[in-house]
Amino acid sequence: MVQAGGTTASTRYRVRGGGPLVGTVRASGMTKNAGCKQMAAALLAPAASTVRNLHPVADLDVMIDLLGAIGAEVDWAAPDALRIDASVALTPEAPYELVSRMRASINVLGPLLARHGRARVAMPGGDNIGSRKLDLHVRGLQAMGAEFDLVHGVIDARVNALCGARVLLDFPSVGATETIMTAAVLAKGETVIENAAREPEVSDLAAFLTAMGARISGAGTPTVTIEGVDDLGAADHTIIGDRIEGGTYLFAALATGGDVTVEGITLGQLGVAADKLADLGGLVEETVDGVRVVAGERPCAVDVQTLPYPGFATDFMPFAVAVLAVADGTGIVTENVFDNRLVFAAEFNRMGAHVHTEGRHAVVRGVRRLSGAPVQALDVRAGAALVLAGLVADGETVVHDAHHIDRGYADLAGKLRSLGADVQREGPA
Ligand code: EPU
Repeated sequence: MVQAGGTTASTRYRVRGGGPLVGTVRASGMTKNAGCKQMAAALLAPAASTVRNLHPVADLDVMIDLLGAIGAEVDWAAPDALRIDASVALTPEAPYELVSRMRASINVLGPLLARHGRARVAMPGGDNIGSRKLDLHVRGLQAMGAEFDLVHGVIDARVNALCGARVLLDFPSVGATETIMTAAVLAKGETVIENAAREPEVSDLAAFLTAMGARISGAGTPTVTIEGVDDLGAADHTIIGDRIEGGTYLFAALATGGDVTVEGITLGQLGVAADKLADLGGLVEETVDGVRVVAGERPCAVDVQTLPYPGFATDFMPFAVAVLAVADGTGIVTENVFDNRLVFAAEFNRMGAHVHTEGRHAVVRGVRRLSGAPVQALDVRAGAALVLAGLVADGETVVHDAHHIDRGYADLAGKLRSLGADVQREGPA
Protein backbone atom coordinates (compact mmCIF):
# COMPACT_ATOMS: atom_id res chain seq x y z
CA MET A 1 0.00 0.00 0.00
CA VAL A 2 1.06 3.58 -0.54
CA GLN A 3 2.11 5.87 2.25
CA ALA A 4 -0.20 8.63 3.44
CA GLY A 5 1.32 12.07 3.58
CA GLY A 6 4.70 10.47 4.15
CA THR A 7 7.94 10.62 2.25
CA THR A 8 6.86 8.73 -0.86
CA ALA A 9 7.48 11.58 -3.26
CA SER A 10 7.98 9.35 -6.28
CA THR A 11 4.28 8.85 -7.02
CA ARG A 12 3.13 10.86 -10.06
CA TYR A 13 0.12 11.28 -12.31
CA ARG A 14 0.97 11.68 -15.98
CA VAL A 15 -1.87 13.37 -17.89
CA ARG A 16 -2.21 14.17 -21.59
CA GLY A 17 -4.85 16.71 -22.46
CA GLY A 18 -7.59 15.49 -24.74
CA GLY A 19 -11.27 15.75 -25.55
CA PRO A 20 -14.47 15.63 -23.52
CA LEU A 21 -14.92 13.01 -20.82
CA VAL A 22 -17.98 10.86 -21.49
CA GLY A 23 -19.50 7.95 -19.60
CA THR A 24 -20.51 6.65 -16.18
CA VAL A 25 -18.39 5.99 -13.09
CA ARG A 26 -19.32 4.85 -9.61
CA ALA A 27 -18.26 6.83 -6.54
CA SER A 28 -16.42 4.72 -4.00
CA GLY A 29 -17.51 4.56 -0.37
CA MET A 30 -16.46 7.70 1.52
CA THR A 31 -13.53 5.95 3.16
CA LYS A 32 -11.33 8.92 4.15
CA ASN A 33 -13.90 11.31 5.62
CA ALA A 34 -16.58 8.86 6.82
CA GLY A 35 -15.27 5.27 6.99
CA CYS A 36 -12.09 6.02 8.97
CA LYS A 37 -14.11 7.94 11.55
CA GLN A 38 -16.61 5.13 12.00
CA MET A 39 -13.73 2.72 12.51
CA ALA A 40 -12.51 5.01 15.31
CA ALA A 41 -16.03 5.12 16.77
CA ALA A 42 -16.02 1.32 16.96
CA LEU A 43 -13.65 1.77 19.94
CA LEU A 44 -16.68 2.86 21.99
CA ALA A 45 -17.95 -0.70 22.52
CA PRO A 46 -16.28 -3.87 23.84
CA ALA A 47 -17.51 -5.61 20.71
CA ALA A 48 -16.65 -6.27 17.06
CA SER A 49 -18.21 -3.80 14.60
CA THR A 50 -18.11 -3.97 10.83
CA VAL A 51 -17.72 -1.02 8.45
CA ARG A 52 -18.61 -1.77 4.82
CA ASN A 53 -18.12 -0.13 1.40
CA LEU A 54 -14.51 0.81 2.23
CA HIS A 55 -11.96 1.39 -0.51
CA PRO A 56 -8.19 1.04 -0.38
CA VAL A 57 -7.17 4.70 0.00
CA ALA A 58 -3.94 5.44 1.86
CA ASP A 59 -5.63 7.04 4.89
CA LEU A 60 -7.38 3.75 5.56
CA ASP A 61 -4.00 2.11 6.14
CA VAL A 62 -3.14 4.78 8.68
CA MET A 63 -6.40 4.23 10.56
CA ILE A 64 -5.82 0.44 10.57
CA ASP A 65 -2.33 1.03 12.02
CA LEU A 66 -3.67 3.51 14.58
CA LEU A 67 -6.43 1.20 15.84
CA GLY A 68 -3.85 -1.58 15.98
CA ALA A 69 -1.52 0.61 18.08
CA ILE A 70 -4.43 1.29 20.45
CA GLY A 71 -4.94 -2.46 20.76
CA ALA A 72 -8.03 -3.18 18.65
CA GLU A 73 -7.97 -6.15 16.30
CA VAL A 74 -8.75 -5.11 12.73
CA ASP A 75 -9.41 -7.73 10.03
CA TRP A 76 -10.96 -7.79 6.59
CA ALA A 77 -14.41 -9.39 6.88
CA ALA A 78 -14.97 -9.07 3.10
CA PRO A 79 -13.02 -7.37 0.28
CA ASP A 80 -14.63 -4.01 1.16
CA ALA A 81 -15.46 -4.54 4.87
CA LEU A 82 -13.35 -4.24 7.98
CA ARG A 83 -14.17 -5.81 11.32
CA ILE A 84 -12.89 -3.81 14.29
CA ASP A 85 -12.80 -5.86 17.47
CA ALA A 86 -12.46 -3.56 20.46
CA SER A 87 -13.48 -6.17 23.05
CA VAL A 88 -9.82 -6.51 24.08
CA ALA A 89 -7.83 -4.28 26.47
CA LEU A 90 -7.03 -0.95 24.82
CA THR A 91 -4.18 1.51 25.30
CA PRO A 92 -5.87 4.91 25.05
CA GLU A 93 -2.97 6.53 23.28
CA ALA A 94 -2.51 7.80 19.70
CA PRO A 95 1.18 8.21 18.86
CA TYR A 96 2.62 11.16 16.90
CA GLU A 97 3.92 9.04 13.97
CA LEU A 98 0.34 8.09 13.07
CA VAL A 99 -1.52 11.26 14.08
CA SER A 100 0.90 13.37 12.04
CA ARG A 101 0.07 11.31 8.95
CA MET A 102 -3.67 11.80 9.12
CA ARG A 103 -5.95 14.44 10.58
CA ALA A 104 -8.81 11.97 11.15
CA SER A 105 -6.66 10.34 13.86
CA ILE A 106 -8.18 12.91 16.19
CA ASN A 107 -11.42 10.95 15.89
CA VAL A 108 -10.15 8.47 18.50
CA LEU A 109 -10.19 11.21 21.18
CA GLY A 110 -13.95 11.20 21.88
CA PRO A 111 -14.38 7.40 21.88
CA LEU A 112 -11.32 6.74 24.08
CA LEU A 113 -12.29 9.39 26.59
CA ALA A 114 -15.88 8.14 26.73
CA ARG A 115 -14.89 4.52 27.21
CA HIS A 116 -11.73 4.82 29.32
CA GLY A 117 -11.95 8.24 30.95
CA ARG A 118 -8.49 8.89 29.51
CA ALA A 119 -7.02 9.68 26.11
CA ARG A 120 -3.54 10.75 25.11
CA VAL A 121 -3.46 11.97 21.53
CA ALA A 122 -0.52 13.71 19.86
CA MET A 123 -1.40 17.17 18.50
CA PRO A 124 -2.07 16.83 14.77
CA GLY A 125 -0.76 20.36 14.05
CA GLY A 126 -1.51 22.31 10.90
CA ASP A 127 -1.13 21.11 7.35
CA ASN A 128 -0.94 22.40 3.81
CA ILE A 129 -4.45 23.85 3.84
CA GLY A 130 -4.41 25.80 7.10
CA SER A 131 -3.85 25.90 10.83
CA ARG A 132 -6.67 23.46 11.74
CA LYS A 133 -7.07 24.12 15.44
CA LEU A 134 -8.68 21.81 18.02
CA ASP A 135 -10.07 24.41 20.43
CA LEU A 136 -13.70 23.57 19.64
CA HIS A 137 -13.13 19.85 20.28
CA VAL A 138 -11.46 20.67 23.60
CA ARG A 139 -14.03 23.23 24.75
CA GLY A 140 -16.88 20.85 23.98
CA LEU A 141 -15.31 18.03 25.99
CA GLN A 142 -14.44 20.44 28.83
CA ALA A 143 -18.12 21.43 29.00
CA MET A 144 -18.81 17.72 29.56
CA GLY A 145 -16.37 17.60 32.47
CA ALA A 146 -13.08 16.57 30.83
CA GLU A 147 -9.75 18.10 31.88
CA PHE A 148 -6.93 18.72 29.44
CA ASP A 149 -3.18 19.18 29.57
CA LEU A 150 -0.82 19.63 26.68
CA VAL A 151 2.41 17.85 27.59
CA HIS A 152 5.32 17.56 25.14
CA GLY A 153 3.00 17.92 22.17
CA VAL A 154 0.49 15.38 23.47
CA ILE A 155 -3.07 16.22 24.47
CA ASP A 156 -3.74 14.43 27.75
CA ALA A 157 -7.48 14.27 28.46
CA ARG A 158 -9.02 12.84 31.64
CA VAL A 159 -12.49 12.55 33.12
CA ASN A 160 -14.17 10.53 35.86
CA ALA A 161 -17.53 10.50 34.15
CA LEU A 162 -18.60 12.56 31.16
CA CYS A 163 -21.80 14.52 31.78
CA GLY A 164 -24.20 15.76 29.14
CA ALA A 165 -23.91 19.48 28.36
CA ARG A 166 -25.11 22.17 25.99
CA VAL A 167 -22.33 22.96 23.53
CA LEU A 168 -22.65 25.95 21.21
CA LEU A 169 -19.97 25.75 18.52
CA ASP A 170 -18.41 29.03 17.30
CA PHE A 171 -18.21 27.45 13.86
CA PRO A 172 -19.96 24.32 12.54
CA SER A 173 -16.77 22.27 12.61
CA VAL A 174 -17.11 18.75 11.20
CA GLY A 175 -14.37 17.36 13.45
CA ALA A 176 -15.62 19.05 16.64
CA THR A 177 -19.21 17.91 16.00
CA GLU A 178 -17.93 14.34 15.56
CA THR A 179 -15.71 14.44 18.66
CA ILE A 180 -18.50 15.75 20.88
CA MET A 181 -21.06 13.35 19.43
CA THR A 182 -18.82 10.31 20.00
CA ALA A 183 -18.11 11.38 23.58
CA ALA A 184 -21.73 12.22 24.37
CA VAL A 185 -23.14 8.82 23.40
CA LEU A 186 -21.80 7.33 26.67
CA ALA A 187 -22.15 10.46 28.85
CA LYS A 188 -24.63 10.78 31.72
CA GLY A 189 -27.68 12.69 30.54
CA GLU A 190 -28.39 14.77 27.49
CA THR A 191 -25.94 16.68 25.29
CA VAL A 192 -27.15 19.27 22.83
CA ILE A 193 -24.74 20.47 20.13
CA GLU A 194 -25.85 23.76 18.62
CA ASN A 195 -24.46 25.18 15.39
CA ALA A 196 -23.43 21.60 14.61
CA ALA A 197 -21.88 20.64 11.26
CA ARG A 198 -24.51 19.29 8.84
CA GLU A 199 -22.23 17.45 6.41
CA PRO A 200 -23.59 14.08 5.18
CA GLU A 201 -20.56 12.37 6.76
CA VAL A 202 -21.68 13.63 10.20
CA SER A 203 -25.11 12.10 9.60
CA ASP A 204 -23.47 8.86 8.49
CA LEU A 205 -21.41 8.75 11.70
CA ALA A 206 -24.64 9.28 13.66
CA ALA A 207 -26.18 6.35 11.74
CA PHE A 208 -23.21 4.16 12.70
CA LEU A 209 -23.46 5.20 16.36
CA THR A 210 -27.21 4.60 16.32
CA ALA A 211 -26.54 1.09 14.99
CA MET A 212 -24.28 0.61 18.05
CA GLY A 213 -27.23 1.53 20.28
CA ALA A 214 -26.68 5.28 20.69
CA ARG A 215 -29.62 7.68 20.97
CA ILE A 216 -29.08 10.61 18.63
CA SER A 217 -31.58 12.92 17.00
CA GLY A 218 -31.15 15.88 14.69
CA ALA A 219 -27.93 14.76 12.97
CA GLY A 220 -27.76 16.64 9.67
CA THR A 221 -29.43 19.70 11.25
CA PRO A 222 -27.77 22.52 13.25
CA THR A 223 -29.02 21.04 16.55
CA VAL A 224 -27.96 17.51 17.45
CA THR A 225 -29.30 15.95 20.64
CA ILE A 226 -27.60 12.95 22.20
CA GLU A 227 -29.10 11.04 25.12
CA GLY A 228 -26.28 9.14 26.79
CA VAL A 229 -26.66 5.38 27.25
CA ASP A 230 -24.83 3.04 29.66
CA ASP A 231 -23.20 0.90 27.02
CA LEU A 232 -23.01 0.29 23.31
CA GLY A 233 -22.71 -2.84 21.21
CA ALA A 234 -21.52 -3.92 17.79
CA ALA A 235 -22.66 -2.17 14.60
CA ASP A 236 -22.68 -3.37 11.01
CA HIS A 237 -22.88 -0.36 8.74
CA THR A 238 -22.39 0.47 5.06
CA ILE A 239 -20.84 3.91 4.57
CA ILE A 240 -22.21 6.50 2.14
CA GLY A 241 -20.80 7.10 -1.32
CA ASP A 242 -17.99 9.64 -1.56
CA ARG A 243 -19.60 12.91 -2.68
CA ILE A 244 -16.21 14.62 -2.95
CA GLU A 245 -14.70 11.91 -5.13
CA GLY A 246 -17.90 11.83 -7.20
CA GLY A 247 -17.85 15.60 -7.53
CA THR A 248 -14.33 15.38 -8.94
CA TYR A 249 -15.66 13.60 -12.06
CA LEU A 250 -18.60 16.02 -12.40
CA PHE A 251 -16.26 19.03 -12.39
CA ALA A 252 -14.01 17.14 -14.84
CA ALA A 253 -17.03 16.80 -17.15
CA LEU A 254 -17.52 20.57 -17.06
CA ALA A 255 -13.88 21.42 -17.62
CA THR A 256 -13.62 19.13 -20.64
CA GLY A 257 -17.03 19.87 -22.18
CA GLY A 258 -18.15 16.31 -21.51
CA ASP A 259 -21.12 14.27 -20.29
CA VAL A 260 -20.52 12.28 -17.10
CA THR A 261 -22.81 10.37 -14.76
CA VAL A 262 -21.57 9.53 -11.27
CA GLU A 263 -23.44 6.71 -9.55
CA GLY A 264 -23.60 6.22 -5.80
CA ILE A 265 -24.13 9.85 -4.76
CA THR A 266 -27.19 12.10 -4.59
CA LEU A 267 -27.78 15.65 -5.76
CA GLY A 268 -28.62 16.62 -2.17
CA GLN A 269 -25.17 15.53 -0.97
CA LEU A 270 -23.60 18.13 -3.27
CA GLY A 271 -25.48 21.00 -1.63
CA VAL A 272 -24.91 24.36 -3.30
CA ALA A 273 -22.26 22.79 -5.56
CA ALA A 274 -25.10 21.28 -7.61
CA ASP A 275 -26.33 24.80 -8.43
CA LYS A 276 -22.80 26.00 -9.15
CA LEU A 277 -22.25 23.18 -11.62
CA ALA A 278 -25.32 24.51 -13.42
CA ASP A 279 -24.17 28.15 -13.18
CA LEU A 280 -20.83 27.10 -14.66
CA GLY A 281 -22.76 25.97 -17.73
CA GLY A 282 -23.68 22.37 -16.99
CA LEU A 283 -27.02 20.67 -17.36
CA VAL A 284 -27.30 18.93 -13.98
CA GLU A 285 -29.79 16.15 -13.33
CA GLU A 286 -30.40 13.48 -10.74
CA THR A 287 -30.48 9.99 -12.22
CA VAL A 288 -31.91 6.83 -10.65
CA ASP A 289 -28.69 6.17 -8.75
CA GLY A 290 -26.56 9.27 -9.17
CA VAL A 291 -25.94 12.64 -10.75
CA ARG A 292 -25.31 13.53 -14.40
CA VAL A 293 -23.60 16.66 -15.72
CA VAL A 294 -23.74 17.54 -19.40
CA ALA A 295 -21.39 20.41 -20.14
CA GLY A 296 -21.84 23.24 -22.57
CA GLU A 297 -19.15 24.07 -25.12
CA ARG A 298 -17.12 26.19 -22.68
CA PRO A 299 -17.74 26.82 -18.94
CA CYS A 300 -19.13 30.25 -17.96
CA ALA A 301 -17.24 32.10 -15.23
CA VAL A 302 -19.07 32.51 -11.91
CA ASP A 303 -18.06 33.50 -8.39
CA VAL A 304 -17.72 30.77 -5.78
CA GLN A 305 -17.52 31.02 -2.02
CA THR A 306 -16.96 28.03 0.20
CA LEU A 307 -19.09 27.45 3.28
CA PRO A 308 -19.97 24.55 5.57
CA TYR A 309 -22.60 22.17 4.18
CA PRO A 310 -24.98 22.75 2.50
CA GLY A 311 -22.80 25.59 1.22
CA PHE A 312 -20.25 25.06 -1.53
CA ALA A 313 -17.80 22.54 -0.01
CA THR A 314 -14.22 23.69 0.49
CA ASP A 315 -13.14 20.29 -0.86
CA PHE A 316 -14.72 21.16 -4.23
CA MET A 317 -13.03 24.55 -4.41
CA PRO A 318 -9.83 23.42 -6.20
CA PHE A 319 -12.00 21.66 -8.82
CA ALA A 320 -13.94 24.90 -9.35
CA VAL A 321 -10.62 26.68 -9.92
CA ALA A 322 -9.75 24.06 -12.55
CA VAL A 323 -13.03 24.76 -14.36
CA LEU A 324 -12.74 28.56 -14.02
CA ALA A 325 -9.18 28.38 -15.37
CA VAL A 326 -10.66 27.50 -18.79
CA ALA A 327 -13.99 29.34 -18.46
CA ASP A 328 -15.28 32.22 -20.50
CA GLY A 329 -14.72 35.24 -18.26
CA THR A 330 -13.39 35.92 -14.77
CA GLY A 331 -14.58 34.34 -11.52
CA ILE A 332 -13.78 35.23 -7.93
CA VAL A 333 -13.24 32.38 -5.49
CA THR A 334 -13.48 33.01 -1.74
CA GLU A 335 -12.29 30.34 0.69
CA ASN A 336 -14.11 30.76 4.00
CA VAL A 337 -13.41 27.45 5.73
CA PHE A 338 -9.61 27.00 5.79
CA ASP A 339 -7.11 29.83 6.12
CA ASN A 340 -4.47 28.65 3.64
CA ARG A 341 -6.23 26.56 1.05
CA LEU A 342 -5.39 28.66 -2.02
CA VAL A 343 -1.63 28.05 -1.98
CA PHE A 344 -1.99 25.63 -4.88
CA ALA A 345 -2.78 28.54 -7.25
CA ALA A 346 0.90 28.91 -8.18
CA GLU A 347 0.87 25.36 -9.54
CA PHE A 348 -2.05 26.23 -11.83
CA ASN A 349 -0.16 29.28 -13.06
CA ARG A 350 2.73 27.05 -14.14
CA MET A 351 0.22 25.62 -16.60
CA GLY A 352 -0.64 29.01 -18.06
CA ALA A 353 -3.67 29.68 -15.86
CA HIS A 354 -4.35 33.21 -14.62
CA VAL A 355 -5.06 32.79 -10.91
CA HIS A 356 -4.28 35.78 -8.73
CA THR A 357 -4.63 35.23 -4.99
CA GLU A 358 -4.96 37.72 -2.19
CA GLY A 359 -5.46 36.08 1.22
CA ARG A 360 -8.69 34.08 1.10
CA HIS A 361 -9.59 35.29 -2.40
CA ALA A 362 -8.57 34.18 -5.86
CA VAL A 363 -9.39 35.93 -9.10
CA VAL A 364 -9.41 33.40 -11.92
CA ARG A 365 -9.36 34.72 -15.50
CA GLY A 366 -10.21 31.94 -17.90
CA VAL A 367 -8.09 31.01 -20.90
CA ARG A 368 -9.19 28.67 -23.72
CA ARG A 369 -6.58 26.00 -23.04
CA LEU A 370 -3.88 25.39 -20.43
CA SER A 371 -0.37 24.26 -21.20
CA GLY A 372 0.95 20.95 -19.83
CA ALA A 373 3.73 21.31 -17.24
CA PRO A 374 5.35 19.55 -14.27
CA VAL A 375 3.41 20.55 -11.14
CA GLN A 376 3.20 19.52 -7.49
CA ALA A 377 0.22 18.19 -5.51
CA LEU A 378 0.12 20.08 -2.21
CA ASP A 379 -2.90 18.29 -0.75
CA VAL A 380 -5.37 15.63 -1.82
CA ARG A 381 -7.95 17.90 -3.52
CA ALA A 382 -5.49 20.39 -5.02
CA GLY A 383 -3.63 17.40 -6.45
CA ALA A 384 -6.78 15.97 -8.03
CA ALA A 385 -7.60 19.44 -9.40
CA LEU A 386 -4.21 19.57 -11.14
CA VAL A 387 -5.05 16.25 -12.79
CA LEU A 388 -8.29 17.87 -14.04
CA ALA A 389 -6.28 20.85 -15.30
CA GLY A 390 -4.03 18.43 -17.17
CA LEU A 391 -7.10 17.11 -19.02
CA VAL A 392 -7.62 20.55 -20.60
CA ALA A 393 -3.96 21.35 -21.23
CA ASP A 394 -1.97 20.99 -24.43
CA GLY A 395 0.71 18.32 -24.12
CA GLU A 396 1.71 16.48 -20.99
CA THR A 397 1.23 17.41 -17.34
CA VAL A 398 3.04 15.48 -14.61
CA VAL A 399 1.57 15.91 -11.13
CA HIS A 400 4.35 15.14 -8.62
CA ASP A 401 3.99 14.29 -4.92
CA ALA A 402 0.84 12.43 -5.81
CA HIS A 403 0.87 10.41 -2.58
CA HIS A 404 -1.37 13.25 -1.38
CA ILE A 405 -3.95 12.23 -4.02
CA ASP A 406 -3.76 8.59 -2.92
CA ARG A 407 -4.93 9.60 0.57
CA GLY A 408 -8.48 10.01 -0.71
CA TYR A 409 -8.71 8.37 -4.15
CA ALA A 410 -8.52 4.62 -4.72
CA ASP A 411 -8.42 4.68 -8.53
CA LEU A 412 -8.55 8.23 -9.87
CA ALA A 413 -6.53 7.40 -12.99
CA GLY A 414 -8.51 4.25 -13.80
CA LYS A 415 -11.86 5.96 -13.39
CA LEU A 416 -10.81 8.95 -15.51
CA ARG A 417 -9.51 6.54 -18.18
CA SER A 418 -12.89 4.79 -18.21
CA LEU A 419 -14.34 8.19 -19.20
CA GLY A 420 -11.86 8.57 -22.06
CA ALA A 421 -9.01 10.45 -20.38
CA ASP A 422 -5.33 9.74 -20.92
CA VAL A 423 -4.07 9.52 -17.31
CA GLN A 424 -1.52 7.17 -15.77
CA ARG A 425 -0.51 6.85 -12.14
CA GLU A 426 3.16 6.00 -11.74
CA GLY A 427 4.83 4.88 -8.55
CA PRO A 428 4.43 2.27 -5.82
CA ALA A 429 1.09 0.44 -5.90
N1 EPU B 1 -11.59 24.77 13.46
C1 EPU B 1 -11.25 25.50 14.56
N2 EPU B 1 -11.24 24.86 15.77
C2 EPU B 1 -11.56 23.55 15.90
C3 EPU B 1 -11.92 22.81 14.76
C4 EPU B 1 -11.93 23.46 13.54
O1 EPU B 1 -10.93 26.69 14.48
O2 EPU B 1 -11.53 23.04 17.02
C5 EPU B 1 -11.56 25.43 12.14
C6 EPU B 1 -10.50 24.80 11.25
O3 EPU B 1 -9.23 25.35 11.50
C7 EPU B 1 -11.02 25.12 9.88
C8 EPU B 1 -12.55 25.09 10.06
O4 EPU B 1 -12.77 25.20 11.46
O5 EPU B 1 -10.60 26.39 9.50
C9 EPU B 1 -13.23 23.85 9.53
O6 EPU B 1 -12.71 22.69 10.15
P1 EPU B 1 -13.56 21.36 10.34
O7 EPU B 1 -13.36 20.92 11.75
O8 EPU B 1 -14.96 21.57 9.85
O9 EPU B 1 -12.83 20.38 9.35
P2 EPU B 1 -12.09 19.03 9.67
O10 EPU B 1 -12.96 18.16 10.49
O11 EPU B 1 -10.71 19.30 10.13
C10 EPU B 1 -13.11 17.76 7.61
C11 EPU B 1 -12.56 17.02 6.43
C12 EPU B 1 -11.99 17.99 5.43
C13 EPU B 1 -13.08 18.96 5.02
C14 EPU B 1 -13.66 19.66 6.25
C15 EPU B 1 -14.81 20.58 5.94
C16 EPU B 1 -11.83 14.94 7.33
C17 EPU B 1 -10.71 14.05 7.73
N3 EPU B 1 -11.51 16.11 6.86
O12 EPU B 1 -11.99 18.41 8.21
O13 EPU B 1 -11.59 17.24 4.32
O14 EPU B 1 -12.54 19.91 4.14
O15 EPU B 1 -14.12 18.67 7.19
O16 EPU B 1 -15.83 19.88 5.30
O17 EPU B 1 -12.98 14.56 7.41
C18 EPU B 1 -10.29 16.71 2.43
O18 EPU B 1 -10.98 15.70 2.32
O19 EPU B 1 -9.45 17.07 1.59
C19 EPU B 1 -10.44 17.53 3.62
C20 EPU B 1 -9.58 18.50 3.96
